[in-house]
Amino acid sequence: MFERLDRLPDDPILGLMAAFRADSDPHKVDLGVGVYRDARGETPILECVRQGEHALIERQATKSYVAPAGNPAFNQAMERLVFGATHPVLSAGRVKTIQGTGGCGALRLGAELIRAASPECIVHVSTPTWQNHVPLLSGCGLKLERYPYYDGATHSIQLSAMLAQLERLPPGACVLLHASCHNPTGADLSETDWREVLDLIKRRQLLPFIDMAYQGLGVGVDADAAAIRLFAAELPELLVAVSCSKNFGLYRERTGALHVVTERPQVAEAALSQEVRIARSLYSMPPDHGAAIVSEVLAGEALRSLWLRELTGMRERISTLRHELVRQFAVACPGQDFSFIARQRGLFSFLGITVEQVRRLRTEHHIYMTDDSRMNVAGLRADNIGYFVECAARVLARAN
Ligand code: LMR
Repeated sequence: MFERLDRLPDDPILGLMAAFRADSDPHKVDLGVGVYRDARGETPILECVRQGEHALIERQATKSYVAPAGNPAFNQAMERLVFGATHPVLSAGRVKTIQGTGGCGALRLGAELIRAASPECIVHVSTPTWQNHVPLLSGCGLKLERYPYYDGATHSIQLSAMLAQLERLPPGACVLLHASCHNPTGADLSETDWREVLDLIKRRQLLPFIDMAYQGLGVGVDADAAAIRLFAAELPELLVAVSCSKNFGLYRERTGALHVVTERPQVAEAALSQEVRIARSLYSMPPDHGAAIVSEVLAGEALRSLWLRELTGMRERISTLRHELVRQFAVACPGQDFSFIARQRGLFSFLGITVEQVRRLRTEHHIYMTDDSRMNVAGLRADNIGYFVECAARVLARAN
């Protein structure tokens, strides 16, 4: 039976991660996979996670099953973190949460729920969007279409084109939005842009599905969730997928959540019951360890404050690197404007070079980024940023 299977190409992001690991060049630079790195190029376990995990292990008395919806304390903690502890949708019982296997699992659960409710629903994603959104959302059978988002020529958001496209959608269509730290562009909607998108969604009766994989790594924990809070306050229905991979550094623990906001609490209950059935049929229950750590960290003042301090440290390092990149590019490529890098947020920006130039950086200089020139800014540090800028300038200067 399996003789007929074709060998598939590697995943564009995970394949790059493997290629980087296999490269033995001492100057290699990893700007590929979206993983935060510190000034030494490492992705350490956060101190708050270490302490929370220790406390948990000391106390935990069983490894028996939890439940298909996951760890209830984690789900509640995530609701408060995402919506804000005093948000009226929480007190009204309009939000139900299911733990996901990472942000990916949460996105897939959201897609499965949409398909259960409305199999013909089309999900509209930004051009460009995170490469894995496509298989995650369409894998359950939903159709995907695109709306314009980022203009590579001006390095900014094409708001009018985006709104014009969304204006044409039929009621009930789903729009996938990135809460903050847009992956792959780093270009986020402003407060007024969000307001315009919200008004349109309300008028056209669309369903927003917001992906938040970087809460706290853009502007701050509350500011990065502001659009979600605004939408929850003004719309009858909303889906939110969140990840704890980056902001808690829990990548391999696969920790995330899907929040379903409905107009009435009974509908949220029904949606959760559907999610539980979906989870049971796919993997039965999510892993508990990462979720238990997050709930431990968020439960007490000491660990929570430590987490916020560590998160601020990560965010500030990324911001410093962005400004330093702009400064060094201004010197190395005086004819070109890279100031957009400092205006963008989160781990990623497009450098804005061609596939050929990206490949040349990889083969000739051992610098790894995805073919669309998405670079993970956190992969830079004091001892490689100069090398990166110098190589990028050399590749840019060379005629094809
Ligand atoms: C990324 O965009 O590089 C990360 O979210 C990791 C992944 O799974 O693709």
